[in-house]
Amino acid sequence: ISRYVNMVIVKLNKKDVIMDKIVEMRDSGKYNFLFAIIGPEQPIADGFTDSLEDLNIPCIAPTQKYAQIETNKLFCRNLLKSIENKRHTRISPDYTHATTINEVNDFSIKHSNNVVIKKTGLCGGKGVYVSDDHFSSNDEYQNICQHLLDNSVEFILEEKLIGNEFSLMTFCDGNGHYLHMPPIRDFKRAFNNDDGPNTGGMGCLIMENNTLPYLDDNDIQISCEINEYVAKELQESLGVNKNNIGYRGVLYGSFMKTTDGKIKVIEYNCRFGDPEVIIALHLLKNDFFDLCKD
Ligand code: AMP
Ligand code: GLY
Repeated sequence: ISRYVNMVIVKLNKKDVIMDKIVEMRDSGKYNFLFAIIGPEQPIADGFTDSLEDLNIPCIAPTQKYAQIETNKLFCRNLLKSIENKRHTRISPDYTHATTINEVNDFSIKHSNNVVIKKTGLCGGKGVYVSDDHFSSNDEYQNICQHLLDNSVEFILEEKLIGNEFSLMTFCDGNGHYLHMPPIRDFKRAFNNDDGPNTGGMGCLIMENNTLPYLDDNDIQISCEINEYVAKELQESLGVNKNNIGYRGVLYGSFMKTTDGKIKVIEYNCRFGDPEVIIALHLLKNDFFDLCKD
C-alpha cells in the first residue's frame, strides 16, 4: 500500500496516536482531508468515525452508535424485531437472550437441538457455534452455554436455518439514498464437495448476470428493502448525527434463502464484506472515488 499512498501509520489499536497525527497534519495546512474510509469493524467500533467527524472529516463508515448493528448481535435482533412488528413480516429466525441454563435447555427442546449459539460482541468471526458444525450433542451444547454463563459472556440462541446464504451490501449516503450491490456468495465451506467445516470464507462467487442461481428478482428486491429498513430504523431509533446525517457507509446484510423459500437475516455488518468487496468493486462501473464523494 505504501507505494500508492502518502503515508502509512500502522498503529490501528492506538486511536489517540492516529487522531493526534491527523490533527497535526491538518494543522500543518498541507493536507485537506476530503473524506475517510474506515475498512474493518474494530476501528468503527472504537469510534474512529465519531472522532474524525468531530474534526469535520466525513467518513464512509457509520458512527459508533449505528455500528451496534454489527457490534451487538442482540441489539441487531431487537432492531430487526421492531421492523418485523412495523412491517408484519418475519425476517429473523426465532431467537432468545438466554441468561440461565434452564432457558438454554428450553430453547434446544423447542427447536429439536437445531440451534446456534452466538456471542453478542465482536469476535472476529469466531463467536458463532452451529449445531452439527461446532457441536453435535446436547451435552456439548450445554457445556458451551454453561461455559459462557460461568464467564459472564453474553450470548443469544437462534433457531438454525437451513438454506443458501448470500450477502447483499448497500451504499448509504446518510441522506436517505441507497445504492445496492448485487448479491454475492461468501463461500464458507472448506474442502471438496463442501465436506469441510464453515470457515471465515474461502472466496466468493457471483454469476455472470450478477445474481445467484438460487435467487429470483423478488428475493433480491426483498433483501434490498430489508437493508433500507435497517438503515432507516437505525436512524429512527437512535436519532441522526450532526448535519442530519443518518447511517452513512456500507451496510452489509447477510441473508439465507431458506429451503422453504423465505429470505431471513443471518447477521448485519457495518462495512464491506471480506472477501465480497473484491467482486463488488470489480463489477462497479463508476469511479469509486466519485461514489465516495457523492
Ligand atoms: P455470523 O458470524 O453471524 O455471520 O455467523 C457465521 C456463520 O454461521 C454464518 O455465515 C452462517 O453460516 C452460520 N449461521 C449463523 N446464524 C445462523 C442461523 N441462525 N442458522 C444457520 N446458520 C447460521
Ligand atoms: N464475509 C463475511 C464478513 O465479511 O464478515
